[in-house]
Order: sequence, then C-alpha cells, then structure tokens
Amino acid sequence: MLGDARRLYLPDIGRERVGSGRFRGLRLVRTDLTGPGPALTHEDQADLLRLRLDMVMALTVGDDGYLDMIHWAHILPAGADDVWRVEAALSVALMGLEFDAFIRDLEAEFQRETHGAREVGAERVLLVGLDLPREPLEPRLTEMYELCRTAGVNVVGEIRQAAARPDPRTVVRRGKLEELALAAVRQDVDTVIFARELSPNQLRNVAAATDSRVIDRTQLILDIFAQRATSADGKLQVELAQLQYLLPRLVGKNPALSRLAGGIGGRGPGESKLEIDRRRARDRMHKLKRRIKTLSKQRAQKRSRRQARGVPIVSIVGYTNAGKSTLLNALTHSNVLSEDKLFATLDPASRRLRFPADREVVLTDTVGFVRDLPEELIAAFKATLEELDQADLLLHVVDAAEPDLDARMEAVVRILGDLGLAEKPVLLVLNKADRLPAGEAARLAQLHGGIAISALQRPTLRPLVAEIERRIFDPQERNNPAPAALAGSPLGVELDAGDGALDGVDFRIGEFKVDGA
Ligand code: GTP
Repeated sequence: MLGDARRLYLPDIGRERVGSGRFRGLRLVRTDLTGPGPALTHEDQADLLRLRLDMVMALTVGDDGYLDMIHWAHILPAGADDVWRVEAALSVALMGLEFDAFIRDLEAEFQRETHGAREVGAERVLLVGLDLPREPLEPRLTEMYELCRTAGVNVVGEIRQAAARPDPRTVVRRGKLEELALAAVRQDVDTVIFARELSPNQLRNVAAATDSRVIDRTQLILDIFAQRATSADGKLQVELAQLQYLLPRLVGKNPALSRLAGGIGGRGPGESKLEIDRRRARDRMHKLKRRIKTLSKQRAQKRSRRQARGVPIVSIVGYTNAGKSTLLNALTHSNVLSEDKLFATLDPASRRLRFPADREVVLTDTVGFVRDLPEELIAAFKATLEELDQADLLLHVVDAAEPDLDARMEAVVRILGDLGLAEKPVLLVLNKADRLPAGEAARLAQLHGGIAISALQRPTLRPLVAEIERRIFDPQERNNPAPAALAGSPLGVELDAGDGALDGVDFRIGEFKVDGA
C-alpha cells in the first residue's frame, strides 16, 4: 500500500476471519517519515479498532536515515482503562517479539473478558439511541430493551446522543459514529441496532463507518415477527413485509445487507433464510402476494361460517405485552402461548367463552401493537387483524403498571383508526392491577372509563365477564352502545361508575355517556 506523508489508504479487507474473541490475523506495518513526535497516531488507533487488526506498527528512521525503532500497539479488552496499549518502542536491531505467542495470549485474554459473561448462542448487540427534543429517548430505549429481550438477543451496551435533529446522512454525528465503531469492537458486538427507523442511505453510511452489521428498529420488529409467526398466513405476511422493507435498501452494493444473512434482522419466518437478492426478492414477493390472497379468501369463508352460526365475536387488542394472551387463557381456561416477551402472539387465536346463562361468545386474541408501527407493517399485518372487522366488541387491554400508559393507549387507538375500526365498540381493560398500590388501578379505571383486573387473579375477572355479557347480550345496550371508543377523552364526558372490592383487589366499572347518548 502506498500513502503520502500524512495518510495511508487501506484497501477493503472484507470480513475475513472476523469472529468473536479473535483478531483479523493481519498486522499493519507502516513506515513513519514524519520525524519526532508520537509515531502512532489517532488514525492508527482507529484502523486497529475498526478493522480489528492484530497489531499496528510504525517504523521510524533515525537521524542517519536508517531504520531505527519499531513503535507498536494492540487492542485491549473491554474493562481495561484504555482501548489500546502503545507498548515501549523496540529497536529494529533488537526486535525479539514472539509475535504468534503474543497474539495467542491476547486473544485468549479477550475471550476470557468478553465471553465469560456471554450467554451461549445469544447475539451481542449494541443499542444506539437519539435523544431529540420532541422524541425523548428514555421510553423508546425501554421499549428497545423489551424488544431485544423478546428477540432473544443480549444488549451489551448503549450509545446515546442528544441532538436537535437526526443527522441526515448518518443519524448520529461523526464523532459518535467513531465512538460506536469503537464500542462495537471492544465489546465484541455482533449487531448494532438503532432505536429508530433508518433510511436506506443512512443504513448504508452507518454500516460503512462501523464495519458491524447494522439494523434498525423496524428490522428488529420484523425479525421478532419472523421468529414468531406460526400460521401459514402469518409466515407469508411476515416474509412479504421483510422483503418490502429490504428491497429499497438493496440498491447497489450495500455492506449492511451483505452482512445481514443469518443473524438478527436477517432471519426469515420458519426455516427460510431471508433472500436478499434483488430480482429474486421481487419474484418471491409476487408469489407471496398471490398466496396471501388465496389464504385470505379461505379465512373469510371460515369467518362467515362462524357468523352464520350467530356466535358473537369479542376480540382482545392491545399494546404488546399487556397481558392479552393471559387474559384469554384466564377467561377460557385454555392455554394460548403466553410468556413475558413481546409479541408472544402473532396469529389470532380463538376460544369460546361461555356465560352462566348458557350463552357464549368467541374470544379472539390478536398480535400486540407497538407505537409507530412502520407503514410497511401496518399494510402487511392488516390481514392478521382482519378478524377485528367482524368483532362485535373489542377488549382493549392495557398494562396499567406501565409508566407510559397514555402513550401506549393512544398508539393502540391510532392503529385501530388506521385499520378503519374507530367506530367499533371498545371496552377498556386495565390489567396488572396487582402490580400497582391498592386502589391505584381503580383510580385509573375511573379516570379512563375502564375496568381494572389482574389476569393472574381469576376472581378479579368477574366484573369484566359481567360487563362483556351486558354489552353483547343486553338488547338495550346493543341498540345504544356506549361510545367506549371515546374512553379516555375527558371532554364532555359524564362518568357513571360502580365500585366494588373482591379478594382484596379494588375494581370499578365505569362507562362514558356523551350528550345523554
Ligand atoms: P403479546 O402476545 O406480545 O402481544 O403479549 P400479550 O399482550 O398477549 O401478553 P401476555 O399475555 O403474553 O403477558 C405478558 C406478560 O405479562 C406475561 O409474563 C404475563 O404473565 C404477565 N401478566 C399478564 N397479566 C398479568 C397481571 O395481571 N399481573 C401481572 N403481574 N402480570 C401479568
């Protein structure tokens, strides 16, 4: 390689031999003709870290013009006080370094440091968040941690930047990008995940600057969907959404994407690996769309058969992790997959709920919502939420113990609106009352016009069951449905609440009436 007195241009050395706890197997040995002053520079450090080189060495010349000293440095594992160590310079004539043994020891030390705490198989990720005046980072980051836990990856660090607006080219500013690249190397990170959506250009620029796999929030959500889709239809929908999202990001040579296959963000539903070749992606999308159409017809037939039998449908909706599946299980004694992870449910699951008066409804569970559900996802998941169209009543379940309850409720209401369901009767259910101080859930229920429950404590569900029955089967109620879609709006609303206490848990039934309706 040739450079000038100030700069050396390194060729693209790809991702050869990059593995966790290992160096590149490459030493950068360069001459230094700049005379007195520190031979190893900031640029050497950046190259060393970014490329994960075994070592950088600079050869200096003495006054006589002959080779004189070797200055050398190597990376230090996370936990050390500095990122690299500049060793004492050696005279060229006396250089006696056992290089192989030295590097073996250093790699072993790295493996001990970074892998001691490493969960087997868990991908190590670094979160990057931008704190904007109108988009505070904290709640977003909390959600990102939840999403990562659900995706089964291990967050090993986070990088934050406060800014007036995102940098149009790289989201975070240049210096932050360097810090990010550095942290990714030192903490042996597999994937960098941005806590926001990245444009195709931003994705490309950031990936080029960091030498790591980079994905954004949308890809993370898609990845979770991909892992969790179980029905044939759900799988097709997810794969289509992934391809739709990736296609515009496939322009030209995109290092971010060539690195995608396999890891998080690049997993396809089921066994398939995401195909990221442009032309084949298009073909595949056509096929998927055709297949989805057929399936959607079949589903419609199934639904109309159910409607013909005249069983009313109650659909449970809500923010992800609100406890929808738990509630469905508790109400129907069934066991739909429920776990403390986001999106445990991806496909609508239906169960019967029988009332004492020998009447019944079909209760369906739906995939959890998230705030700012990307456009591509809304379109793709409409089909999985098609069932909602047929619902006679929506149970909007919220996690009452969540600090940003209001934002989450709003997100759900907005998505229902996007799906054309704003007019559906809604019953608000404030779940996880057991996680709040006594009386607090009841207060919230009154404030928002809902019913407080704890899906984990069956007795607390009685008022809810009674209310569902009343809403569905009370003829007066049917002719005059409570405008529960307005629940939460404090404007012109008059509250009619009944109190009660059961098994030590307060609950309250509230209902809004607008203008005497
Ligand atoms: P997605 O399928 O991701 O949309 O989630 P979901 O809304 O179906 O939530 P799920 O039923 O899987 O519950 C999420 C977590 O909350 C689980 O760990 C439940 O055990 C827990 N949970 C549900 N209801 C309650 C409750 O009333 N109290 C407490 N403390 N935890 C609850």
